[in-house]
Amino acid sequence: MMYYCGICTVIIQLISLIEASVITFPFYQEEHNRNLVKTVDMTVGGNFDDGYYVSVNIGTPPQKVSLLIDTGSSNLGIAASAALHVRSYFQLNKSETFHLEGKSLKVSYLQGQWEGMLGSDLISIPGSPSITTHCNIACILSSNKIFSKDSDWQGLLGLAYPVLAKPDSSVTPYFDALVAEEKVKNIFSIILCEKPQHTNGKQSQGKLVLGGVQDYLHTGEILYTRIHKEWFYEVILTNMSIGSKYWASSCTELNNDKTIIDTGTSALYLPQKVFSWVKQSLQKSNVLQNQLTEEFWEATEDVCIQKGRSVSEYFHKIVMSFDETMNSRVSLVVPPELYLLKSPKTMPGIDCYKLGISSSQAGTVIGAIILKGFYIIFDRENRRIGFANSTCTDTVAAVIQTMNLHLDPSVCAYNSKEKSELTLLFITYIILAVFLSCTIPMLMMLAQWTWHYIIRK
Ligand SMILES: *[C@@H]1O[C@H](CO)[C@@H](O)[C@H](O)[C@H]1NC(C)=O
Ligand SMILES: *[C@@H]1O[C@H](CO)[C@@H](O)[C@H](O)[C@H]1NC(C)=O
Ligand SMILES: *[C@@H]1O[C@H](CO)[C@@H](O)[C@H](O)[C@H]1NC(C)=O
Repeated sequence: MMYYCGICTVIIQLISLIEASVITFPFYQEEHNRNLVKTVDMTVGGNFDDGYYVSVNIGTPPQKVSLLIDTGSSNLGIAASAALHVRSYFQLNKSETFHLEGKSLKVSYLQGQWEGMLGSDLISIPGSPSITTHCNIACILSSNKIFSKDSDWQGLLGLAYPVLAKPDSSVTPYFDALVAEEKVKNIFSIILCEKPQHTNGKQSQGKLVLGGVQDYLHTGEILYTRIHKEWFYEVILTNMSIGSKYWASSCTELNNDKTIIDTGTSALYLPQKVFSWVKQSLQKSNVLQNQLTEEFWEATEDVCIQKGRSVSEYFHKIVMSFDETMNSRVSLVVPPELYLLKSPKTMPGIDCYKLGISSSQAGTVIGAIILKGFYIIFDRENRRIGFANSTCTDTVAAVIQTMNLHLDPSVCAYNSKEKSELTLLFITYIILAVFLSCTIPMLMMLAQWTWHYIIRK
């Protein structure tokens, strides 16, 4: 049976190869694609605790800097002065090609902030000289809670859309500059590896692929969801299930006030209501009840289990379903091995874990803790985000096709402003109507009264 199907697959692949070559051949004649580098694979360094980064060369002569991969912002920011926790920094007065533009800027995050000056310089990728581009750089001159003791990076590579760029959207982000110069196609993909502890834990072998998708980074199909709005990578959650329970309230609550895919955030953040539901639904039995304190849910205390046992014996998987696009419906199966973080402290006979899920005021943020289980495709060209099973993970995280979605997924979008404006408008109309219906009879009565008592007299 297996062999039989194996042969079928080979034949099908052969046929599709022949078809593909026949169909794609004419496109090779397109002139403007001639210098297009197909894809550039950049090695991702770092780890979950300290952030994932890539290295670039900046300036002339080149200085090597490492940049945190951040799909939740849009500036390329580089430490340009000595600071706490910054081991090396970009020495802009040593670069012949650096231009200072004089504008100052300040960027604040949920945690931390930085201030600096806007400039520009040449950026190239080690090993891919053809992909050098002139790009805006935010030179970080002072910062607070951005760089940490163990982080091995000196800046941020903001990969989101220009509208989020500071001080305004006239600052072209790095990836947009590459695409505008036709260096790569308008698509990139990320795999943040989660290497098993025994292969020397701290290093990961992730990739940031500029310009496309690499087949060696995933198994099975890529399933897509629509990008709802192009600022952050905003998507729409349509359903969530944990064990036998599923989110039965309005699906707009899942996206209150937005849902974004953000490699620059570590945890999974959920709107308060959704977080409370997750809290009630996550445990499989009452075995760990006395350990699941408020402190555990606030991620300040660990839960400990017998060494050698699996967290999935005690906790459920979380299944997150997304809005469909072009008949593709995707759900992410997030196992407890992904959302619980193994604590570094060792104690005889037990393993301890911290929760990687938090409650948030700023919507759902699907951070690195979830993303490191998958291969993610930021297909900006077709305005969609793809997820595929990763070739670089030890957990049972899985991308699956969503079944039986009965509703129109767009009803799940959270649109606070438009809704309240609509309600206000509606209220205004009602008041006007009430006013008119009261005043017309009153005016008529007044007219009658005037006629009777003043004019007739
Ligand atoms: C560059 O500026 C720093 C201070 O910002 C200074 O210490 C250093 O000597 C300068 N280097 C050059 C080559 O001018
Ligand atoms: C991903 O892997 C899971 C488990 O191995 C499998 O059931 C699922 O079909 C795979 N997903 C895709 C899209 O191939
Ligand atoms: C959400 O998922 C559950 C379990 O898979 C399913 O029973 C339910 O119908 C889904 N809800 C919607 C609105 O699709």
